[in-house]
Formats: sequence, structure tokens, C-alpha cells
Amino acid sequence: MGMIETSPGAGTARPHPMRDRPVIDAVALGKRYGETGREQGAGLALDHVALAVDQREFVAISGPSGSGKSTLLNLLGCLDRPTAGRYRLDGLDVTRLPDDALSDIRNRKIGFVFQQANLLPRASVVENVELPLIYRGVPPRERRRAAEAKLELVGLSDRRTHRPNQLSGGEQQRAAIARALVQEPKVILADEPTAALDEYNSNAVMALLGTLNRRGRTIVMVTHDTDLALRFVSRMVTLFNGRLRSDRSLNSRGQRSNPGPSGQGPPRISISG
Ligand SMILES: Nc1ncnc2c1ncn2[C@@H]1O[C@H](COP(=O)(O)OP(=O)(O)OP(=O)(O)O)[C@@H](O)[C@H]1O
Ligand SMILES: [Mg+2]
Repeated sequence: MGMIETSPGAGTARPHPMRDRPVIDAVALGKRYGETGREQGAGLALDHVALAVDQREFVAISGPSGSGKSTLLNLLGCLDRPTAGRYRLDGLDVTRLPDDALSDIRNRKIGFVFQQANLLPRASVVENVELPLIYRGVPPRERRRAAEAKLELVGLSDRRTHRPNQLSGGEQQRAAIARALVQEPKVILADEPTAALDEYNSNAVMALLGTLNRRGRTIVMVTHDTDLALRFVSRMVTLFNGRLRSDRSLNSRGQRSNPGPSGQGPPRISISG
């Protein structure tokens, strides 16, 4: 860890007079993979990226392939450590935490959604959603109740005893979102959650994330589909060559076509609770 460079007193990346403490506060974040790059500069996947995310924000990260989006998301999710800079998650500096402490923080604070739902094929949908709570030793009745509440939230109550292969791709992703929510994480991190879905299911998954955000969830999502994302997110960050290229707040979410509970919008998902 001796190679981590920090900037003492650098403060938060994006000061805002009205903000509470940001959930995500990354300063001058850098990531260099390996040291055996063929060319000069090879392996510098992330370079001086500053990102502060407040509670209740819905941030999309876009940029060309190889620009560092997944690298950034993995750092924010404590799946990996930066080689430069500092990262504070929910007020705790996690930059130099040892592996076990880092995975403990990750399990408590982060809900992940990836391109593939990665549900266990031999377990039912509700058992899949319960899984994170099993690892945490939550008693059976309590974790079943928590899992069923999240399935209701994502509109999958009637599928809870199905096997994953009996669900559509979009339904599988909604189950994965329920699984990500079951531990009440501080933030949902999603890496191209709609990339493997057709247009209808992509819309449904984005509409669900938008609804969760309006209900107070903090979400950071990597996506290639900026047109779709712009209808739902409150902020768009773009990366280029490992650097932050732009960071735009979309306070009115003017381009979204789903203005609220009573509005017309993309495929509706029954949401309750
Ligand atoms: N584990 C790794 N080891 C070495 N290099 C890596 C590793 N992961 C990513 N890279 C490199 O870091 C750079 C950024 O990769 P990253 O996966 O973050 O890009 P991305 O923006 O998510 O791309 P995509 O849109 O294709 O998913 C790329 O040059 C990639 O080759
Ligand atoms: Mg990626």
C-alpha cells in the first residue's frame, strides 16, 4: 500500500453548500493495473478522477469502451483498491483498509447489479434474493420476509417460487436488483445493468431504478445507453481515457418521459410498499 499517493487536505471533490456528507467521496482517484505494460502509460486505467455523490442522487457514468468505467465502479464498490488518491464511503476512509475490513464494508454498504443477473439456477427467486442475508446470519423467517418485501418492490412477488430460468431477462435483472436491495445498502452500484436486455426490458429495468431513486435510493450506474439513461438519471458523468471528461447535473431530468407516479412512461412495473 506504500504506493498510494494522497493529497492531504484536498477536501471533497465537488463542494456544495447544502449537501450533507456525500455517500461517495473520491478524490484524485487513480488505478494502475500491473507494472508490466507494453507501452508507456499502459495500465493507467484511471487518472485523477474526483467524484462526490450525495444521497438520493442517480448518477450515470458513460464513456467509450476501455475508458475506465468499470474500474471506477469497482473502486467505488470496494471490489478493488485505488493505486492513487483517496476514497471515503459513507464517511469512512476505505482507501487503505485491509481485505477483510474492505469486504465487510462492501457487504454492508453496497448493493451490486451487473450485466448478468447471476442468480443461482437451482434456487428459487426468493431464495436468491435472501442469499446476502444468509451470509450475514439473519434468521430464516426474518430474511424471507425481507426478501419478499424486496420482490414486491420490484414487481416480482408472483414469481418468487420460480427458478431463474423461468424468468425473462428483464425479470432476472429485477430479481438481481431485489437481491442488491435486501441488505438496505447505502448505495446501489450497477455496471451496464441493461446491456444484455432488449429495448422493452431495458426500459423496464431503468424505470425500476428511476422509481427506486425517487424513493430515496442512491444509485451509480455505468451505461452505454445515454439516451435511455438521460430519461431517468439526475447526473451524467463521462470518462475518457481514464479521466473525467464531463459531469453534468440534470436537475429537471427534463428528458425523461416518466415524470412521476401519475405520468405516462416506459413499461409500467407494479410497485408497492
Ligand atoms: N484487471 C485488469 N488488469 C489489467 N488491465 C485492466 C484490468 N481491468 C481493466 N483493465 C484495463 O483498464 C482500462 C479500463 O478498463 P475498464 O474495464 O474500466 O473499461 P470500461 O470503460 O468499463 O470499458 P467497457 O465499456 O468495455 O466495459 C482498459 O484499458 C482495460 O484494458
Ligand atoms: Mg466495463
